Amino acid sequence: MAIILGIESSCDETSASVCINGKVTNNDIATQDIHEQYGGVVPELASREHQRNIVPIVTHVLENAQISLSDVDAIAYTRGPGLLGALLVGSSFAKSMALTLDIPTIPVHHMKAHVLAHFIDEPKPKFPFICLTVSGGHTQLLRVNSATEMIILGQTKDDAVGEAFDKSAKLLGLPYPGGPMIDKLASEGDPGKFEFSKSEVPALDYSFSGIKTSILYFLRKEVQRNENFVNENLNDLAASIQFTLIEMLMAKLKLAAKQEGINQIAIAGGVSANLGLRSRLADESKINNWEIFIPDFQYCTDNAGMIAISGHFLYENGQFGLLSDSPQPRMPF
Ligand code: KG4
Ligand code: ZN
Repeated sequence: MAIILGIESSCDETSASVCINGKVTNNDIATQDIHEQYGGVVPELASREHQRNIVPIVTHVLENAQISLSDVDAIAYTRGPGLLGALLVGSSFAKSMALTLDIPTIPVHHMKAHVLAHFIDEPKPKFPFICLTVSGGHTQLLRVNSATEMIILGQTKDDAVGEAFDKSAKLLGLPYPGGPMIDKLASEGDPGKFEFSKSEVPALDYSFSGIKTSILYFLRKEVQRNENFVNENLNDLAASIQFTLIEMLMAKLKLAAKQEGINQIAIAGGVSANLGLRSRLADESKINNWEIFIPDFQYCTDNAGMIAISGHFLYENGQFGLLSDSPQPRMPF
């Protein structure tokens, strides 16, 4: 049993969290709004924002948790995957703090941490379970055998589904990040109004680059006929795009559950905040007799709570890092 400080800085959220004896007590997140005006995350600006945020956010989380530095037993941080400059800020900070306090570091894999976010709150899935991890950088179908053993059953061959949401939103003229905007507009639209072609990919893999092209050509054609087409049909376009993406996710998820004979089904990652996906999963759970697990909103998108809980499991396993560990932007799974 231990007190773990978790640090996340892989993309555009600086976050710190405290996990005491396996219970995440605090999770503070500083979101970087600066990227909105550029229509996407600007890596150099992200690094600078992390540098600005990291000391205040760690100080704040320790104060809120009423923990002093000398109480911390280990520091878990995101080693990768992510933006190199952004990862460097979190990892350098974690390693120097650990060196000063003479405590171990625990390097954490960001995508595995998204899955382990399911162990922050009740109800927790039982092993083995299937996890569909859907974020801005990855789309993976996993068989999770234990906190430290996860097998990739399928994954995207090109764009991640979060990227597909964001790029489609950009085509509709919506600001970055477009995923949450599509979600919001879709709730007022007709998901059956427009049809977009879905790529056919064998087995349990995904491909999301084709749908983006299909939307682009469709919009070009319609806007030629009516320049106000997008504005006049915004809600229906958002709903139809969201419906198509969720259809693609669900088809392979159902296949994976059947293939593995597992009915404990979880979703994780930024796109698991999507209300359409959450409600579709609830519908499918009734049809397929699934027990479903959906993290609280604050643990869907990037957060240090998932890093701290991962740190807890790795600490129990004695899996510590070295001060020579460098960030891994393309960290293998
Ligand atoms: O996991 P995450 O916070 O960061 C990565 O590790 O990539 O995921 C970010 C992605 C973005 O593409 C964002 O648009 C998407 O998650 N996202 C959503 C929603 N909230 C976040 N996509 C659809 N609907 C949402 N409500
Ligand atoms: Zn993430």
